[in-house]
Amino acid sequence: MYLDRIKNPSLWAKVVSAESAAQLIKDGMTVGMSGFTRAGEAKAVPMALAERARHDPVGITLITGASLGNDLDRTLGEAGVIKRRMPFQADPGLRKLINDGKVMFVDQHLSETVEMLRSGQIGPVDVAIVEAVAIKENGEIVPTTSVGNSATFALLAKQIIVELNIGHSASLEGLHDIYIPTRRPYREPIPVTSPQSRAGLPFIPVDISRIAAIVITDRPDSCASVTDPDEGTAAIASHLTEFLGHEVNKGRMPLSLAPLQAGIGSIANAVMHGFIDSRFNNLSMYSEVLQDSTFDLFDSGKLTFASGSSITLSQAKMDVLKNLERYKSRLILRPQEISNHPEVIRRLGLIAINTALEADLYGNVNSTHVSGTHMMNGVGGSGDFARNAYLSVFVTKSTAKDGRISSIVPMVTHVDHCEHDVDLIVTEHGLADLRGLAPRERAPLIIENCVDPSYRTLLSDYFKDALKLGGQTPHVLDKAFFMHAAYRDTGSMLPQLAKPKAKAAVAA
Ligand code: COA
Repeated sequence: MYLDRIKNPSLWAKVVSAESAAQLIKDGMTVGMSGFTRAGEAKAVPMALAERARHDPVGITLITGASLGNDLDRTLGEAGVIKRRMPFQADPGLRKLINDGKVMFVDQHLSETVEMLRSGQIGPVDVAIVEAVAIKENGEIVPTTSVGNSATFALLAKQIIVELNIGHSASLEGLHDIYIPTRRPYREPIPVTSPQSRAGLPFIPVDISRIAAIVITDRPDSCASVTDPDEGTAAIASHLTEFLGHEVNKGRMPLSLAPLQAGIGSIANAVMHGFIDSRFNNLSMYSEVLQDSTFDLFDSGKLTFASGSSITLSQAKMDVLKNLERYKSRLILRPQEISNHPEVIRRLGLIAINTALEADLYGNVNSTHVSGTHMMNGVGGSGDFARNAYLSVFVTKSTAKDGRISSIVPMVTHVDHCEHDVDLIVTEHGLADLRGLAPRERAPLIIENCVDPSYRTLLSDYFKDALKLGGQTPHVLDKAFFMHAAYRDTGSMLPQLAKPKAKAAVAA
């Protein structure tokens, strides 16, 4: 039964099929949909929309919190429904459509989307589709496993479709803290002074008259596909925890460190696992995605509190949602503009740990564009955190694609995080502490500590040639991408692994 989850009986008549609700979405509309890193997305209505598009073409701008589960981005993309997408995605099918130029992807800092919507710089939002665990007496929506941008979508949309997901445990109610910053020019400080701070309401307040349809579902969130920690990620974690241990010894931090933020993906998740065997204790998190490692850290007794915008778990960890009561008093889910807000991040003094696709000799980081042109996922929240954190850490394995790509290159082919936002670079070989170093001091340290031994000579030779030309940040402009060009032409940045046939194929 679901009626007990719709507390206002006047809304019962709004319950319709997903197909009927999908009819509210017209060609050319902007749709704001719940969903953040595969958690808490609306599921039935977008599927019905994709199905409808088979015989009734419909194209929309789709704005979410972040990436979606249940293959929704692929399904909607391949059905031709998504014409424009923001602010983040992580789906291989949609990635292809983006890189083929068929979907216009606006890659945004995750804290900024709703500011732009509320001020009318983008939008307006025609329809909001929000997954809920309950609808309260006055129509207030209780979100599920993510908050993302849902509160502002519901506030701004002309019509709201609520997907009431009865498969989610009712115990999710009470987990959320919905705070929307006050209007400019009278904006007040955000009253979040610790990861535990509650600043708002445990539900999304809405104008009940704008709830146009309610769709009942029980489809679960998709599982995260993080890979288990391995030797390389364990080494990265060990370099970082050793470094933080020195910081504690120098009296710069207590053993509880500073609140931790960890980015998405296998590497960041594995690095967080590294804290389990560390000497630190009473840790806290102020992050956006709470992955498996958050709950492993709770279970190990190392973590006292975690604030995020979503809970995204692998299959092995899905039981967390069934046993939520065990963790609930130590968790808060917030809108992503608050979990990622520069003001709060700077106030709390976070240790931000995000992943680089590639970094260069001077500490610039590319997290998004393969070979400078092809979108991987998007910048997500990494920029929100990197610029404003107390300590901004970028982790990456030193090589990719079986050693054929070096993750440290002379010059990154796309800059997401500039040298001014990056304090530490860590690979399995070691850590480069860039704080207080000029570019000419950074390069030798990064080569010595972070580069895979097989690439050290190539990079030191480049740096020596660059020094001859001088400058604050020495480069040989006509050679700066020689490693990327070698990969394009021969399938490897390392001459020893080059495949001459690949070169011939490209030339042909
Ligand atoms: N060039 C080309 N491909 C590269 C590469 C490089 N320099 N470095 C890594 N890759 C490839 C890997 O081979 C892998 O490919 P595969 O999927 O075909 O196996 C893929 O990128 C993912 O790399 P992986 O090593 O598995 O790391 P990950 O799962 O931790 O993801 C990012 C790394 C950078 C893609 C991911 O963290 C990301 O999208 N970050 C940007 C958003 C972000 O940081 N959000 C966090 C804020 S909370």
